[in-house]
Parts: sequence; structure tokens; C-alpha cells
Amino acid sequence: MEKRGEWNSRLTFILAAVGSAVGLGNAWRFPGLAAKHGGGAFLIVYLAAMLLMGIPLLMMEISVSRKLRKGAIESMRGIGKKWEFVGWSATSNAFVIVCYYSVVFAWVILMFVNSWQFAGMTGNNEAASNLFFELTKTTGAIEGADIPGAVLVCLLIAWGLIFYCIRNGAKSVGKVVKFTVFAPVVLLLIMAVKGCTMPGAGAGLAKLFIPDFSALSDPTIWVDAVGQVFYSLSIMMAIMFAYGSYVRDDANVAVDAMIIAFSDMAISVLSGIVMFSTMGGTGMLGDMTASGIGTAFVVYPQAIVNLTGIGWLNALFGAIFYMMLITLAIDSAFSIVEGVSAAISDKFHIKPKTVTIAICAISGVISLLFITQMGLAWLDIVDNWANSFNLILIGILECVAIGWTFNLRKVLGEVNRNTKKFKAPYWWFAASIKFIAPVLLSGLFIWNIIVLFVQNGGSYNPDYPIWAQIAAGWVITVLVFISGFIAKIFVARKKKKGDYVEDEVVWED
Ligand code: PHE
Repeated sequence: MEKRGEWNSRLTFILAAVGSAVGLGNAWRFPGLAAKHGGGAFLIVYLAAMLLMGIPLLMMEISVSRKLRKGAIESMRGIGKKWEFVGWSATSNAFVIVCYYSVVFAWVILMFVNSWQFAGMTGNNEAASNLFFELTKTTGAIEGADIPGAVLVCLLIAWGLIFYCIRNGAKSVGKVVKFTVFAPVVLLLIMAVKGCTMPGAGAGLAKLFIPDFSALSDPTIWVDAVGQVFYSLSIMMAIMFAYGSYVRDDANVAVDAMIIAFSDMAISVLSGIVMFSTMGGTGMLGDMTASGIGTAFVVYPQAIVNLTGIGWLNALFGAIFYMMLITLAIDSAFSIVEGVSAAISDKFHIKPKTVTIAICAISGVISLLFITQMGLAWLDIVDNWANSFNLILIGILECVAIGWTFNLRKVLGEVNRNTKKFKAPYWWFAASIKFIAPVLLSGLFIWNIIVLFVQNGGSYNPDYPIWAQIAAGWVITVLVFISGFIAKIFVARKKKKGDYVEDEVVWED
């Protein structure tokens, strides 16, 4: 048996975790949500959700896997055999996400390569907002199966980069994150300077920072804040279990988790400053409500062509913007592959590198679906179910498993093991994992169900046929949650044949 990989320093682990947490969600989801929910008011609620739920759950995942030295599947088995399926669900859901996150990553590369085109579009909003659709040939509907060559090349580059970064697990990840965590921050700072020195930037910044307290009365501010905290910290995605399992015994989980969470938040706020000042400066503040893919590929290009009157300078800022997104996305993209890979490799005792190659190959093939002309529509559906339902349900199950059927004091003991100054208090940890997190997440889950069925009659988006939503939504959700039971049948067969011995994962005091 090979010795398990370890981070070569405390900083490496923190950077890897920050790299995973800081991703496209910080750059375009966070500012979009802040715009939707009264700027500063959202910041306050977001901070509250982070403290009430995000940080304790992050500490929990890191410390459980550091203790058990296993990825998500075996770590959950260590909590209790009947909970292994939760680890499987997290791993399967992460696998689904990899298949399309890699495509978003490829699109960012595509836009970077084509950013020179902005030079000829000064002031031409229409051309700028069409660029993405021209390049990807995406129809936005479930029709059209062509794959443009340029997009295919970008997807291959994306997968090549992902594999390169994780080919040797913690060792190679540790090397690249030294670059991929700092580069986007530097690029964001350059863009912040540009944004903040434009006339009109002040109005944007005021909108971001001055709380509009009336926004607090809208319950969706909580729904969005809880969802964003969850998504942004990369928890419940098998990632933090994998990364935690490489953490050294002498690490200070309590403090490290705080550093990770607050760095993630700081970078979200920095992206907010960039987005709000730039949109203010280009007179587009009103367009900020669009969140997600549209912001990066449709709205922001319009800002790019209005930054200055000089074409090549605008193109340069466009290149900086997409370069920033590349460096932001890459460490999130490979972290999720690493999460899946570590979980499977631990479960079946297969060499990590073999599993990594297999996963990159399989999800690489599946990701082809998302670069067809109908890819964006499929991506939109799969993303909605993976995040609005699967992720949240996994969160609830994990809280119940660890909070209610395991000894939380033991887990907290691991969190606080090497810390003298800052100790996470038991009342906070227990209140969060036993009550606040499962209650908030259940509320969020029910809310999403109500929105889907009561408000929208069961259809997430009327532009897509129902069969597609059932196939890419519900069928995948069911598969995610039964994956553990399917695996069990498979394992039982292998055991019977005598070519596999299942690990007994025990938490030794
Ligand atoms: N935390 C990431 C972000 O904010 C989300 C993410 C990470 C998604 C890893 C997928 C995989 O963008």
C-alpha cells in the first residue's frame, strides 16, 4: 500500500482549499446576488449564514476526513456503515458537476482566446453580447447537436490542464495552487483600480456597500445566502473530505477553516467591487441582476467594449477579465475531480492515478454533450438540480449523520486538537450542525420544491421540454442518491468472488 499523500505545508492546504472555494461562484454569482438583495444587506446576511452554518460544516468535513484519512465515501462509512451512501451521493453529485463545470471552464478559455475581437467592437453592445453565442453556436434550447471545432479544442485544453494539475494528487495540486490562488487576486485588483477610477463608479460602490434594509424582509435573501455559502465553500461536494484527508496531524483545523472561509468571502467582496464599479462606470448598473453564466458571457462583454474609447485597451481588459476567470476556475475544477477520484480510489483500493485518468476520460466524454449547440440548455437543467436539490439534500443527510448519530464532541475534539488560542466552542458547533444547518437547509429544500411545483407548475424553465427536465433533473437526482446502494450490490458480488476485502473504517480514540 502506498503511503497516503500529504500537503507539504500548512500553507499548501490552505491555498488548495481556498483555490477550490474561490471559483466562478465568487466572480459572478456573488455580485449578482448582492445586486438582487439590496447590496450591503446581502453582505450582512451572507456573513451570518457563513458563521451560523458554513464555517462549522467546513470544520466538520476537514476534521472527520483528517481523522479517518479517507475520501468522502469511506469517511462517511467511518461515521456509520449505513451512512456510506451519503458519501456516495456526494461523490456522484460531484461527478455530475465535473461534467459541466469543465465546459464552463472551456468557455472561459474560448472567450480569453477570442478577446482580441473586442478591439473592433468599441461601443457596440450588441456585437459584444453576441460574441459568446457566435463562438459556441449555442441555441439555448434542446436542439442542434453540432460541436464547433474551436470549442472542442478549448475543452481538450481544459481537461488537459485539469489532469495535469491533479496527476499526482496533493503533491501536484500543492504546486499549482501557489499560482492559481494569487493570480486571480492580482488580476481582480487591476480591474478594481480600473473600475473604481471611472466616473459613475461611486454609485456602483454605494449600491454594493450601503445596505438597503428593506431587502431583509424578503425571505429569498436567506434562501440565496444559504445556497451561496454552501456552493462557495465547496462543501458537500466530496472535495473537502479529500483535501482534509491529506491534512497533517499537527494541523490547526479550527483556525485554518476560518482563514479559508474568510479568504473566500474577501474575494467575493473584491469581485463585487470590480463588478459594481465597472457596471456603474459603464452605466449598466441596472443590468446587474442577471446572475450566473449570462453575467460573464453576455453582460460583462458589453461593459468591456464601453470601458474606454480605445479598442485595443478594451480588448486588453477583456483578456485580463477572462484570464482572471481561467485562474479562478481551474483550481475549483480540478478540486472536484480530485474529490471524486480520492473517494473512489480509497473505496476500491485502486491507485489514485489510475482512478484520476479514468474519471477524466469518462467525464471528458460526457462533457461533450454540453458543448453541442444544445449544451447550454442541458447544462442549465443539470446545474439547477445538482445545486438546488442534490447538494442541499446531501447537506441535510450529512448533518443528521454526524450531528445526531455520531459523537459531535469527538469531532470537535479533532477540530480543536492543535489549537490553543482559538477554540471553536461546543455550543456553537453543536447548535449549528444539529439544528441550524439542517433546519436552514430543509427550509431551503422545501422552498425550492415549492418554487418548482407550486409557482412554476413543475417546470424549472418553460423553454425546455418536460422530458428533458425529468431526464437531466430528476433521473440524475435519483441516480445520485441510489448510487451507494448500487455500489453495495457490486461490492457484495466482488466480495463473494473473493477478490475484494472491504475496509473497516474505525474512529479510534
Ligand atoms: N466553490 C466554487 C465556486 O465558488 C464552486 C465549485 C467548486 C463548483 C468546485 C464546482 C466545483 O465557484
